[in-house]
Amino acid sequence: MFESLIEKLVVKSRVAHSRRKQLRLLLLDEAFFLLIAPWLMILPARWLLGTADLGGLEGLRIPLGLGCLLLGLSFSLWAVRTQWVLGEGTPSLNAPPTRLVTSGPYRCCRNPIQFGALCYVFGLGALCFSLASALLALLAGTLVGIAYIRLVEERELAIRFGEEYLDYRRRTPFLLPFSCLRRRSFGSAAGDDPTQELPDSLPTRGRVLVHAAAIYDAVQPLVTLGQESRLNRWLAGQVDLPAGARVLDVGCGTGLLTEQLASHQQQAEVIGIDASGPMIARASRCRQTGNCRFQQALGEDLPFADASFDLVTSALFFHHVDRELKLRSLQEIARVLKPGGILLVADMDRPYTRLGWLMSWVAWKLFRQPEIKENMDGLLRELIPAAGFSGLREIGRFSGYIRVLHAWRC
Ligand SMILES: C[S@@+](CC[C@H](N)C(=O)[O-])C[C@H]1O[C@@H](n2cnc3c(N)ncnc32)[C@H](O)[C@@H]1O
Repeated sequence: MFESLIEKLVVKSRVAHSRRKQLRLLLLDEAFFLLIAPWLMILPARWLLGTADLGGLEGLRIPLGLGCLLLGLSFSLWAVRTQWVLGEGTPSLNAPPTRLVTSGPYRCCRNPIQFGALCYVFGLGALCFSLASALLALLAGTLVGIAYIRLVEERELAIRFGEEYLDYRRRTPFLLPFSCLRRRSFGSAAGDDPTQELPDSLPTRGRVLVHAAAIYDAVQPLVTLGQESRLNRWLAGQVDLPAGARVLDVGCGTGLLTEQLASHQQQAEVIGIDASGPMIARASRCRQTGNCRFQQALGEDLPFADASFDLVTSALFFHHVDRELKLRSLQEIARVLKPGGILLVADMDRPYTRLGWLMSWVAWKLFRQPEIKENMDGLLRELIPAAGFSGLREIGRFSGYIRVLHAWRC
């Protein structure tokens, strides 16, 4: 769809410019992004919201606005300088860096200029109008920015820098510069043993969340339209188990559901597994209790004995794995469940509201994640019986796109 634009950008990147011409292009670019582009998001947001505000939170408008404005400016300028010095180029599309830049702010995330620009937009919106307008402008800027980066910029960089870029992309988070912070604190928080270092990810084709661990808990209520804690509490209350029962939560992430299960089933032993080291580290640090523990493991290769669990749950995990891994994970779950044991899956499925459909479609396209489309087409309903489960039924719906499926092991 954007092939010809990408081709043009690749051709432009090969044109050599003098440093003086590069500087002119850089100044023009900065003038646009500092003085014009932010208003293209802030003014429509202000117009849409009028004088609506965030109530008492607006008291934070000035300090928060100023902080974000300064943070955004300094982060962007640091990134621009790094491109200029190390990449011998500029953020301008007409004179991009000739070398792939991976150090300085580019070690923290792949898009530090966009991160800085978004902080700047938020800060400016808050200082000039309200936190509400600033948030809406931030949302619009984020959507436009992510769409451009995913659809154009990343593909162009992959053509220009090949394997070098793909490797950098695998190692470095997309937008939020948390990896710098995470690396420093990680060693003290990994898994059962706080001194043990977990690998970022176990080898799998599944989409493992490594860099998102630090912000996952803050973002999850947004992506579930405020339903995250209601969903997990509701799920945990669906089954009452006898004392001594064992529960497994597959793809537990930071342990939001695992924690609810452990507090609802106080007499049960609850184990959460995830392929991501940082997720398990965070879950262990924040949510490990007497009857709740976490372990790094793969859904498609569960390190547990046959027939050793009474209940296996999984929330929002299956849209992270492809068809074959969905089936293998379900077969593994069937293996570790006792006969008659219960499977409870809450995941993306056939959307049942227009907003749910839109959110699923955007996630599928934006993250280029065919695993989501498989769920949207109802694939889990085909695979659950094929993996050895009976009595499949839908017992709940959340957020327009999540359905809860219940079945028992034959
Ligand atoms: C969207 S998160 C869901 C986390 C949690 N269940 C919740 O509801 O908040 C999906 C999780 O699946 C994990 N994951 C992806 N592939 C996996 C695999 N093959 N085995 C185990 N976990 C995997 C990711 O690392 C991520 O933490």
